[in-house]
Amino acid sequence: MVDLSVELGPLKLKNPVLTASGTFGYGLEFEPFFDLGSLGGIVSKGLSPRPRHGNPPQRIAETPAGMLNTIGLQNVGVDAFLSEKLPKLEHYDMAVLANVFGETEAEYVEVCKKLDGAPGLAGIELNVSCPNVECGGIAFGNDPRALASVTAACRKATGLPLLVKLSPNVTDIRETARAAEDAGADALSLVNTFVGMAIDVEARRPVLNRVSGGLSGPAIRPLAVHMTWQTYNAVKIPLMGMGGITCARDALEFILAGASAVQVGTSNFVTPTSAADLVNELRDYLEQHGFESVRELVGSLQVES
Ligand SMILES: Cc1cc2nc3c(=O)[nH]c(=O)nc-3n(C[C@H](O)[C@H](O)[C@H](O)COP(=O)(O)O)c2cc1C
Repeated sequence: MVDLSVELGPLKLKNPVLTASGTFGYGLEFEPFFDLGSLGGIVSKGLSPRPRHGNPPQRIAETPAGMLNTIGLQNVGVDAFLSEKLPKLEHYDMAVLANVFGETEAEYVEVCKKLDGAPGLAGIELNVSCPNVECGGIAFGNDPRALASVTAACRKATGLPLLVKLSPNVTDIRETARAAEDAGADALSLVNTFVGMAIDVEARRPVLNRVSGGLSGPAIRPLAVHMTWQTYNAVKIPLMGMGGITCARDALEFILAGASAVQVGTSNFVTPTSAADLVNELRDYLEQHGFESVRELVGSLQVES
């Protein structure tokens, strides 16, 4: 039997596979497809202090090997998450992480305080990297000082494991990674979506209502793997890697590059059982290659000089 368990600072996971925020609802939507308890964990849709309707359509578009979205953080709000969603997830043997979004630093803190100590909640992931909203989100994630400030404020607001989710839309991700680490993050998630756009050449108009959106899916995987490797060599705190993961080989790229755990995002829309399948595939890979624990592989990339 191989050991799939991993630790990201104070966050302990029975296996390294989670589902990425915004691609898996609140988990409950996927109950018909597989046992959620087979996962290492799930990350909720980004939660704000009050419910949000998100952006008007058209807000998704398919692209070669991926998709663009500009959902705009539609969510039920933190109160409804706590009263209606989280209690229904408590009986599953897996970690539930809450993804948190605010338009201001005070809103991030407000949501973190409400989540602090909630029964069944394993940790918080700060979304400081959403490219699809007018205020907040990426405005924090692109500026190391603003990122450090919101991270430090949320660190004070909660004793839960605190992950900061980094934006890839920066010149050097190591700067924002170090800023989050220095401000008290327990671990980093990377990456969020890349800003992109698509144009309808018949209408001569943007495909998406808000012109640009966030690109995700296999199209971004090599970029995300590279950023994971860069970040692994720049910080000491553990990493949660994501970007276009569809199968064990994809996940292993992130793990070898330095991720202790991975998240499956866009692939959930194509194959709803994607993340559960990945757990089994990872176990098979470790067995076939004679590894006792997935931890042996984390950051074990051989780079010959
Ligand atoms: C439709 C959609 C909604 C998303 N919503 C959120 C969100 O609320 N919060 C967040 O931090 N990331 C959000 N993301 C980003 C994903 O969690 C993930 O970082 C990104 O899609 C890259 O992984 P993937 O290529 O496996 O999808 C969203 C992505 C998609 C496609």
